[in-house]
Amino acid sequence: MNTALRDGAAIPEIGFGTSPLKGEDAIRAVGSAIEAGYRLIDTAVNYENESEVGEAIRRSEVERAEFVVQSKIPGRDHAYDRAVASVRGSLSRLGLDQLDVGLIHWPNPSVDLYADAWRALVDLQRDGLVRVIGVSNFHPHHLARIVDVTGVVPAINQVEMHPYFPQFALRAEHERLGIITEAWSPLGKGMNAYGEAPVRDAAAAHGVSPAQAILRWHVQLGSVPLPKSENPQRQRENLDVYGFTLTDDELAAITGLARADGRRFGGDPDTHEEM
Ligand code: A2P
Repeated sequence: MNTALRDGAAIPEIGFGTSPLKGEDAIRAVGSAIEAGYRLIDTAVNYENESEVGEAIRRSEVERAEFVVQSKIPGRDHAYDRAVASVRGSLSRLGLDQLDVGLIHWPNPSVDLYADAWRALVDLQRDGLVRVIGVSNFHPHHLARIVDVTGVVPAINQVEMHPYFPQFALRAEHERLGIITEAWSPLGKGMNAYGEAPVRDAAAAHGVSPAQAILRWHVQLGSVPLPKSENPQRQRENLDVYGFTLTDDELAAITGLARADGRRFGGDPDTHEEM
């Protein structure tokens, strides 16, 4: 199943997250993920595994055209020329002629050049080096600024999202602008969302695992989760969320795990630096 993007392209409804896989582990895990059926593969310059992702793709028997490979420009490369060079570097490490999705990894407040990086992505898309352009970890005010500077709305914003942190306000803004939400740490594993009663109850009611219930919650909310797993069986399990539908009550109960204190466990885009 695919999610349509504002510029006419489409991406799979579920992708494979590759952080923090490295070296042979990364080649093995991406390889088994491809065998399991993942076609959207998420990497970043700063994950230091682009070569391994490229290697796993080349070793597979799947046609290049079937893959949606996405990578991200780090903060140290936000100046226009450096952003262009950064994407060229990603292409060379991945062994690809075109990046399917190019994202800005974080806004990086101390650098304050993300609008320049965005201008570079707009031009790279025009020149055919990047097919779909977007951002990651952007607040609404960051989105407003790049749209202001270029008139171009990103197709994707990849952010922390899971049942503890459902991103209500940001997703409403995405809906208004026509931006697809991708979810990193979709399982909220760091805070044990699996063990929560609404997740366990929904999973038991449909005869699925807690992870499948959470991933189905994402799909029904329209966000594209990027679960990471090194385990082939869990990789398959995480794609197998199409045999059941959560009820409105189950969706609401899982969303009800959102905490008033804002249980983000990653960085806040207004302060976090990803150089
Ligand atoms: P593993 O690689 O051993 O499968 P998130 O994507 O929310 O950051 O969570 C990633 C973590 O969740 C990884 O530690 C991964 O471990 C674990 N994980 C991924 N899929 C599942 C699953 N279906 N059931 C249990 N744990 C999972």
